[in-house]
Amino acid sequence: MPKPALLVTRRLPPAIEARAARDYEAHLNSEDAPWFRDGAAIAARAREVQAAGILCAAGDPMGEATIAALPPSVRIIATFSVGTDHIALQAARARGIVVTNTPEVLSFATAELALTLMLMAARRAGEGERLVRAGAWEGWAPTQLLGVTLEGKRLGILGFGRIGRTLAGMARGLGMEIHYRDLRPAPAEVAQGAIYHDSDASFLGAIDVLSMHMPGGEATRRWLNAERLALLRPGAIVVNTGRGSSVDDAALVAALRSGHVRAAGLDVYDGEPRIFPGYFELENVVLLPHLGSATVETRDAMGRRALDNLDALLLRGQTPPDALT
Ligand code: DGY
Repeated sequence: MPKPALLVTRRLPPAIEARAARDYEAHLNSEDAPWFRDGAAIAARAREVQAAGILCAAGDPMGEATIAALPPSVRIIATFSVGTDHIALQAARARGIVVTNTPEVLSFATAELALTLMLMAARRAGEGERLVRAGAWEGWAPTQLLGVTLEGKRLGILGFGRIGRTLAGMARGLGMEIHYRDLRPAPAEVAQGAIYHDSDASFLGAIDVLSMHMPGGEATRRWLNAERLALLRPGAIVVNTGRGSSVDDAALVAALRSGHVRAAGLDVYDGEPRIFPGYFELENVVLLPHLGSATVETRDAMGRRALDNLDALLLRGQTPPDALT
C-alpha cells in the first residue's frame, strides 16, 4: 500500500518530522524556505506531489484563493495551531476538505505567556532590561522604574475558554480577583468564583488588567477600539495573546501615550509580522514575537495532535478528533 502524500509547509520539531516521514510520503520544508508565504506556491506544491494532506501552520495563507487552487487529491488540511483565522473554513467545507486544529495542548503555555506579559507590563520589565543593556543603569534608587503590583488587582479575562480559564488559575495564585466576559456564564465549577459580566461596559469598567483571548476573524475585528478603551479604568493594563486583529492599534497607542492605559503587553499583531509603527515609540509596551505556544513541550504536543488528526483520516479512514469542517 503506498503511503499517502503529505505536504508540510513549515519546519517542525524533529520528532514530528521523523514521525511524518515514517508514516507518509512526506514532503517536508525542513529549511523553512519561504514558499509557505505564498498561497499559490502552496497549491502548486500540493498539485506537484498530489498531496492527500497538508500540514500547515498559523499565518500560512490558506484563504479562499488557495483552497480553490488545491488539487482534488487534498482531503485534509491539518493546521499546527489552535487558531484557524488563516484558513477559509467555508471554502474548505464546500470542497469537502476536512480542516483540523490543535486545541487544548497549548492552553498552559499561552496562559503562561499572558501572565509573563502582565508581569512585564506591570513591573516595567522591558524598560528595565533596555536600561541595563544600554549600559545606562546608575544603580538602585528608591523611585526608579516603579511599577504596580498585581496582588489584589482585578483581572478581566476576555474569552473564558481553556486559555482564559488556565490564566485565571495562575492569577488566583497572585491574589488577583477574576472577572470575565464571554457569550454566556460558565458553570459554577468552571468559574470558581470568577465574576461574569454580561456587558462590555460593566466588564471594562470593573477591571485593572485586561487579558484578551479572542479568536481572530471579522467578528472580533478591532474589538478593542477607542470607545471600549475609554471604558477602562484610568491606569489599566492591556495584554493580548489572542489575535492582533482584535485591537485597533492607533487607538491603543493613543491610550498608552496619554497614560489612560498604563502599559500593554502584546504577543500578536494585526498583519504580523508587520507591527504598527507607533508601538516602537513607546516605552510602556512590551512586544513579543508571537511566542504564546513556543515551548519545546507544547510544540511537540501540537505536532503530535496534528499528526493524530491526519492519521485518523488518511491512515484509518476515520473522522479526525479535531475536525472543524
Ligand atoms: C495558535 O495556535 O493559534 C497560535 O497563535 C500559534 O501558537
